[in-house]
Amino acid sequence: MTQTLARHRGLVSPGRRLVLGLALVAAVSLPSATAAESVALSVDASRSGAKIDRNLFGQFAEHLGQGVYEGVWVGPGSAIPNTRGIRNDVVAALKALEVPNVRWPGGCFADEYHWRKGVGPQRAVTLNPNWGGVTESNAFGTHEFMDFLDQIGAEAYLSVNVGSGTPQEAAEWLEYLTAAQPTTLARERAANGHPAPYKIAYLGIGNESWDCGGNMTPDYYLSQLQIYSRFVRNFNPAQEKDPHRMLKIAVGPGGDGPRWTEWTDVIMKAWQGRSWSWDMDGLSLHNYTVPKWPPSHKSVGFGETEYAEILKTTLEMDRIIATHSAIMDKYDPQKKIALVVDEWGAWYAPLPGTNPGFLAQQNSLRDAVLAALNINIFARHADRVRMANIAQMVNVLQAMILTDKEKMVLTPTYHVFRMYVPFQDATFVPARLDAGTYTQGDLTLPRVDAIAARDKAGKLWLAVTNLDPGRPVTIEATLAGLTPRSAAGETLTAPRVDSVNSFEAPATVVPKPIAVKISGATLALTLEPRSVTVISVEQ
Ligand code: AHR
Repeated sequence: MTQTLARHRGLVSPGRRLVLGLALVAAVSLPSATAAESVALSVDASRSGAKIDRNLFGQFAEHLGQGVYEGVWVGPGSAIPNTRGIRNDVVAALKALEVPNVRWPGGCFADEYHWRKGVGPQRAVTLNPNWGGVTESNAFGTHEFMDFLDQIGAEAYLSVNVGSGTPQEAAEWLEYLTAAQPTTLARERAANGHPAPYKIAYLGIGNESWDCGGNMTPDYYLSQLQIYSRFVRNFNPAQEKDPHRMLKIAVGPGGDGPRWTEWTDVIMKAWQGRSWSWDMDGLSLHNYTVPKWPPSHKSVGFGETEYAEILKTTLEMDRIIATHSAIMDKYDPQKKIALVVDEWGAWYAPLPGTNPGFLAQQNSLRDAVLAALNINIFARHADRVRMANIAQMVNVLQAMILTDKEKMVLTPTYHVFRMYVPFQDATFVPARLDAGTYTQGDLTLPRVDAIAARDKAGKLWLAVTNLDPGRPVTIEATLAGLTPRSAAGETLTAPRVDSVNSFEAPATVVPKPIAVKISGATLALTLEPRSVTVISVEQ
């Protein structure tokens, strides 16, 4: 890992107020560690909040370690079953997640990426100095990425190179991708196998330009943003008429504290006073769960103290979003600009024996709980947070999928993303919970977290997470505004907080059906300790 990453991570101050949008009160002590105490959850299904944009379930695939090469791309000549070089097993697994968008090619890699090296029959071999100093074959380039998106049914979120590239290089990439007229670049795209213009739904203008993306000040980055936003155009005629045209996402803050609030303030203030010649649609936020820098928490082989530390840290996402949303509200009260959390997730110590620049880590039940808590936070801020990309999709950081040559395993985080599919584009429904807290040493966390939403067909969904690693809890959910006839769902738990799915034992942490009792307008379900549960309610 380069020095560029030894920076802002440690600046997140601990011990924050937890604002969960739910009323959380102090727990009463329990007579037994295993008795399932009942707590009340009230859901007012007659009221609704913002749409939980499906883009909140976006993925991130960087040229980093085995995230792309081996994880997605094995090449057409591989013995691993593939379609035009892209692994069939990984594609099938991702299709089940209904992935809305994938951010590519980085990350820090994006600001050193020159797209021309990744198109055409002759690919230049370059280096990947950010991530392990390995060679980059450029075998997976523009066409391969777009083919991969087609195979999984997701939209493109490209990051253009602002750090070491030029506006001209980025503009030519977009012309190459999107021009319908017979320009030289469009003809080159056709000669390389794709006559029709591609659709680029989202465009990131730089990545972490305050750090690995060029160490820019907010004002310097703003001047770059204005230039790129003006000249990097989408020519796809189908998108011109589309209200969902290519949306431009500016580099935003990397945490909280004065450095980051200043960044948000500078960009948003300039946007409010902008001229006709530039615009943006989103401001990115990067916020990893990493209690200190460099990352030292183990991803497996840890106990309940580390479980609580990581979950406590992850809950800071709520306050960080609230801080930046408040600044955005000042300049954009109509919430035109989305806050795009396009890098989030747990960042642990590299697995022993791996290249530390590959950011390889295991994924445990703790990560499943962490994922659910973050998705719940995004849902509560859905009026402003309209896109998010977990880092990263395969084999890197908090991955959905791990591969080892021909083997593949689905992680606990994968199962949470699969269970939450019905929340994509669902409408937030207010829920109120009174579950108390759980305490580990000097750390106090909410015991249970929950959200509710109605899907596009009007069906009610509840997602309830029991953070407490030792105590089950019975949720008695009162539903105002609907009469439940039946309810069913799945729950994800495992024997230990650090239980993982391995290639040898891939079903240690997998969802199982959960029983729900109905009496009148009340549902009752007992949550296992350390579990994530999603249920639907038929009325
Ligand atoms: O996700 C790994 C790295 O974290 C990304 O390349 C960078 O944007 C961030 O610092």
